[in-house]
Amino acid sequence: MTIQIRPATASEMGQLGELTSYGYGGAFGDGPDNIPATSIRAEWTLCAFDGPRMVASFATIPFTMRANGNAMAMGGVSTVVTIPEYRRQGLLRRLMTDSFEHMRERKQPVASLWASQAAIYQRYQYAQATQLRHYTIDTVDIVFHDGNWGTGTVARTSITEGLDDLRDLYRSYVADGTCYLHRAQVRWSTNLFETTAADGPPEIAIARDEDGVPVGYVIYTLRSARVNHPSRNQEIKIRDLVWLTADAYRRLWHFIAQHDLVGRVVWTSAPIDDPAPDLFTEPRLLNCQDKEGTWLRIVDVAGALAGRGYTQNGKLRISLPQDKMTPWNAGTWELDASPEGATVKPSDKNPDISLSLKSLASLFCGMRSAHDLARAGMIEGNQQAIEGAHKVFATQAKPHCPDHF
Ligand SMILES: CC(C)(COP(=O)(O)OP(=O)(O)OC[C@H]1O[C@@H](n2cnc3c(N)ncnc32)[C@H](O)[C@@H]1OP(=O)(O)O)[C@@H](O)C(=O)NCCC(=O)NCCS
Repeated sequence: MTIQIRPATASEMGQLGELTSYGYGGAFGDGPDNIPATSIRAEWTLCAFDGPRMVASFATIPFTMRANGNAMAMGGVSTVVTIPEYRRQGLLRRLMTDSFEHMRERKQPVASLWASQAAIYQRYQYAQATQLRHYTIDTVDIVFHDGNWGTGTVARTSITEGLDDLRDLYRSYVADGTCYLHRAQVRWSTNLFETTAADGPPEIAIARDEDGVPVGYVIYTLRSARVNHPSRNQEIKIRDLVWLTADAYRRLWHFIAQHDLVGRVVWTSAPIDDPAPDLFTEPRLLNCQDKEGTWLRIVDVAGALAGRGYTQNGKLRISLPQDKMTPWNAGTWELDASPEGATVKPSDKNPDISLSLKSLASLFCGMRSAHDLARAGMIEGNQQAIEGAHKVFATQAKPHCPDHF
């Protein structure tokens, strides 16, 4: 069998639709015009062909994400499927290896994805980068322990009226963050504004401060007959909640709590440093659960470390092992970081810390601190070096990515 690895042509995208329908069991639609086939561009793909037949699909969507306050190009890996007859023959490894080379050429220093199974990607040095916090709470239990509902107002609006405010608020909200995507119009329309048969149309409410300035928003759906309750059978599903001030956060919850007929509020994409557990009178009634989010891989160490934002000054020599998939990353790198910018260059001096590319990915995005990694035996270095790495890589907020791709 001679397998050819190449991007699909536009006329072959129907095959990608068929492959992903089968591989994902119809989760993104069935047939040649399912969501992956119609939303991914042929030039983003890298597929395996046995003659004219596509036997494995793979795509890298060009995204920009936040990296502790800086914008960074990111390869969003998607449509990863090999048909069962061709599995365990090394096709995904070939596609992934080639795609890292392409990402490096395209100056995308990091790759990210949503994993169906973590085992597939950990062997490629992906580390868990974000988590999704799930809340399920009854509106009668939305009560703050200090009784402070915040100041300002919250009012519903239409997508047309509110879109500019939503975009500006989102941009300000994610500015200092890590792993958040820069949202193109398609992300807003598919992830946030879609009307689904199950949940109905999206609703939008914007929080304003006492001067009328927008300071937060919530995008949600509202459906009846969802909760087994004799008088409050409606459900609110929060799709996105953004706040720039503590008052806005409280006002938005207050607005949700005023839906007296709602017996259940569900939010499945809160960040893991969301303040609700610290503010609610009975945090356990949030039924909080943290679930796996996106995975991140450092494709180009020099580009990733130099492009990330830092809040502290610090110098660190970082040693990384040989890596067959991205051989250009091996060796010792000297990072000179400051809030004004960072430089990264190869070094022949002794390293301060040694770690795998996977551990570096955790550190890079702030999912794990150097102290966390040291406790898990996933970083080597003396106490002073670990302390230095802890400070240099500190992020302003926990990494988060509420957007599926
Ligand atoms: C995941 C999938 C794409 C792997 O494709 P493949 O071409 O068979 O992968 P490879 O032959 O290159 O295998 C790569 C490695 O991952 C391992 N692997 C593959 N699938 C695995 C799984 N589900 N769990 C654990 N390990 C897995 C293989 O054993 C192999 O290990 P090795 O490199 O140490 O030999 C394929 O199994 C598939 O299509 N699965 C269903 C769809 C899916 O889950 N896609 C991922 C969406 S995020």
